[in-house]
Amino acid sequence: MKLIIKGGLVADPVTGKTELLDVVVEDGRVVRLDKPPTGADRTAMVIDATGQVVLPGLIDAHTHLREPGQEHKEDIASGTAAAALGGFTTVAAMANTDPVIDSRTEVEFVLKRAAETGLVNVLPVGAVTKGQKGEELAELGDMAEAGAVAFSDDGQAIANAELMRCALEYAKMFGRPIIDHCQDESLTNEGVMHQGYWSTILGLRGIPAAAEEVQVARDIILAGRTGGRLHLTHLSSAGSLDLLRWAKERGLPVTADVTPHHLSLTDEVVRRLDYDTGTKVNPPFRSQRDLEALRQAVGEGLIDLIATDHAPHHFDDKDVEYNYASFGIVGLETAVGLVVTNLVEPGILDWAGVARLMSLGPARLFGLKAKGRLEAGGDADLTIIDPKAEWTVDPAGFASKGRNTPFGGMVLRGRVTATIVRGRPVVLDGKLVEQ
Ligand code: DOR
Ligand code: ZN
Repeated sequence: MKLIIKGGLVADPVTGKTELLDVVVEDGRVVRLDKPPTGADRTAMVIDATGQVVLPGLIDAHTHLREPGQEHKEDIASGTAAAALGGFTTVAAMANTDPVIDSRTEVEFVLKRAAETGLVNVLPVGAVTKGQKGEELAELGDMAEAGAVAFSDDGQAIANAELMRCALEYAKMFGRPIIDHCQDESLTNEGVMHQGYWSTILGLRGIPAAAEEVQVARDIILAGRTGGRLHLTHLSSAGSLDLLRWAKERGLPVTADVTPHHLSLTDEVVRRLDYDTGTKVNPPFRSQRDLEALRQAVGEGLIDLIATDHAPHHFDDKDVEYNYASFGIVGLETAVGLVVTNLVEPGILDWAGVARLMSLGPARLFGLKAKGRLEAGGDADLTIIDPKAEWTVDPAGFASKGRNTPFGGMVLRGRVTATIVRGRPVVLDGKLVEQ
């Protein structure tokens, strides 16, 4: 099958350039990038991308697909439909399912279900510890062999430092990173939102920024000692960024991501939305100073990638008092709109920067050589975005089963019009293509 994407502004995360180019695709691969106009070819399907931006397919390094075991919250079919609509051609599926993805069998299950029901590429992440209990290492080698691209106990922190040291040491043998959810539980102390002015005013128990920073510091030291690759996920505080800068200046094997939601809101939203549990997330929304530091870190290139932490929950998990609600926000279908509105429009990121943070960065994290960039011979995973389109977030219309978002009703700029996975259009005109 042949496909030509005509007249789009192609953003290259490697050179940092954005150029008007036609992308010629054949049999799932990019064949060449042409200066328009490309000669007519009656055998090819044509997508007119005039006025739109063409990016290497977006890759989400942090998605909760909830299958197996919590299909009432999400499954691989609904989660990958949400991914496709959000412009993601690949997602890394987190291991905190039921059962936990902690051995070869579950990794193989996820890959099999993804092949049967997934609309985009799914990369399984294996747990670091058996049952994510934080007691004993899982079979990392076995899982790597079966196709796990990284290891993470995300949802939970690894409290035991020696276990984390071992995990970094072992994961290094298989060339895989540890994706680290940093949170010292003794400091979190059953908090439900950021500890600061608003938690005091609202009478909610706070999670101090130090809960994150203490573990960020510990694990950076362990990465330095072991040489194991450490990826710090969903960083939320300015203090964590200082520690990350320290690690990078010393050349330690440490990378990091931030989420679109932490780049968009502060803890004040809990008051503004009147204790709406759609605002309850882990780590929590932090102060204005933290938000500004995160945006600046993205702009200056300190942050390696943007990841959604798409965390769908059932209505019943959220329709309870703030203290009892589950932590999490759905992110796949709002990521591009939030990034364009809050980072591209204000001039913090250009389009090549978006491609660097949402395509190349995650491809590098997982060592995906044929993805993350747009060049001849690479996989034809592509995302096309109308940069000026305005739209209103309507959770009821999400393809995800999760409706838990603080962004409902918000007007965003930047809309995904097409998503192409290995040369096959999965989304066209902003809608799923009948398969
Ligand atoms: O808010 C969150 N929800 N943070 C996490 O780390 C886990 C996630 C979930 O699995 O619901
Ligand atoms: Zn997490």
